[in-house]
Amino acid sequence: MNILLIGSGGREHALAWKLAQSPELGTLHAAPGNPGIFEHAQDAGLNPADKPSVVAYCREHDIGLVVVGPEVPLVDGLADALEAADILVFGPSAAAAQLEGSKGFTKDLCTRKRIPTARYGRFTDATAARDYVQRHGAPIVVKADGLAAGKGVTVAMTRDEALAAIDACFSGGDGDEVVVEEFLEGEEASLFCLCDGNQALAFGTAQDHKRAFDRDRGPNTGGMGAYSPALPMTPELTRRAMAEIVEPTLAGMREVGTPFKGVLYAGLMLTESGPKLIEYNVRFGDPEAQVLMLRLESDLLPILLACAKGDLSGVAPHWRDEVALTVVLAANGYPGTYAKGSEIRNLPPERLGMKVFQAGTRRDGERLLADGGRVLNVSATGATVRQAARAAYEAVAVIDWPDGFCRSDIGHRAIMAEPE
Ligand code: AMP
Ligand code: GLY
Repeated sequence: MNILLIGSGGREHALAWKLAQSPELGTLHAAPGNPGIFEHAQDAGLNPADKPSVVAYCREHDIGLVVVGPEVPLVDGLADALEAADILVFGPSAAAAQLEGSKGFTKDLCTRKRIPTARYGRFTDATAARDYVQRHGAPIVVKADGLAAGKGVTVAMTRDEALAAIDACFSGGDGDEVVVEEFLEGEEASLFCLCDGNQALAFGTAQDHKRAFDRDRGPNTGGMGAYSPALPMTPELTRRAMAEIVEPTLAGMREVGTPFKGVLYAGLMLTESGPKLIEYNVRFGDPEAQVLMLRLESDLLPILLACAKGDLSGVAPHWRDEVALTVVLAANGYPGTYAKGSEIRNLPPERLGMKVFQAGTRRDGERLLADGGRVLNVSATGATVRQAARAAYEAVAVIDWPDGFCRSDIGHRAIMAEPE
């Protein structure tokens, strides 16, 4: 079967790398792609926002399945356009993608289905939002509605911080609606679930590291590293999260006529009273997909295909009994402004249990150049988080790229917590 993969990040490189190992794969096509992805895929030369061209390309190249990596084309209705043309697609409709695209939509679904989440208010004017903060006090969390690439959230430790965040949201910044919600305490973990519209299948857990610098300091980023499986996410907590959060969500989506197909990524807070939903994403995490793909033993292709066809009943993925960890190398200055075009030398070749996935890179002849904020994902497996981290950082040390930086403590909380 020929597959078209949409996206150009490290997440899509990991998906391409894994799909390329499938005996069922014919030709893998990708757009926009990156040099890492093009080691496994043919450049489709498409703009994913141009839906008619994507549909025409699929017909021309006998594409049996389209796998959509990022959220933007999903929220924009790419899956709808493909389904309307009878082309199988892994990824939700635009209506179902509101689970990520609109925090208010997700919060209202939580209320309707009694899904554990932070208490909240939705506001379209600053005065009412400010009143809510005055009544509830701090710490409190202010979220701009709409897609904000993880940057529309303020965890305010004081009332003044919360009020300032509200004013910023309504000053023509991130959107015209805010959600103000209760501050939840606990460890965060991510749960990935494959969904076929009716049923959900747990598909791995991870913890990421959102802050730019060591010891969780500095600004929020798209993620500076991750490891899987998430140490605090016991099988019992996964069972509870599936039963109390994910399954009622799927039922709720079905009830309103927008069944969810694809991967549902639940950002959870593991509180004293059990897992609570912080947010949903409607796609794999980046860089969480990189660690999931390193651990997945089963063939990815039939799994994604079953999902797209709407029947996961025969699917039972197998995982390596190992930890995988990835360290993100980002351009100096990220997540603020950074330069593009510096040369990266000495990428270590793939070996058993170690792989460098490429994110923001481009080729210039034989040279590999940085071309984005997050540039490389140095990923490795090990028997423990400590061992996986050691293997990943050994590979990081080999790479010659003076214009990039990484955190030196990925996995630190898990390493402290795991037995020696
Ligand atoms: P989000 O974009 O909703 O995932 O929020 C980004 C980050 O803000 C999360 O990963 C949490 O660390 C933090 N956060 C969001 N909501 C809450 C909450 N209700 N309580 C505590 N922390 C939160
Ligand atoms: N690493 C966080 C995300 O993909 O949203």
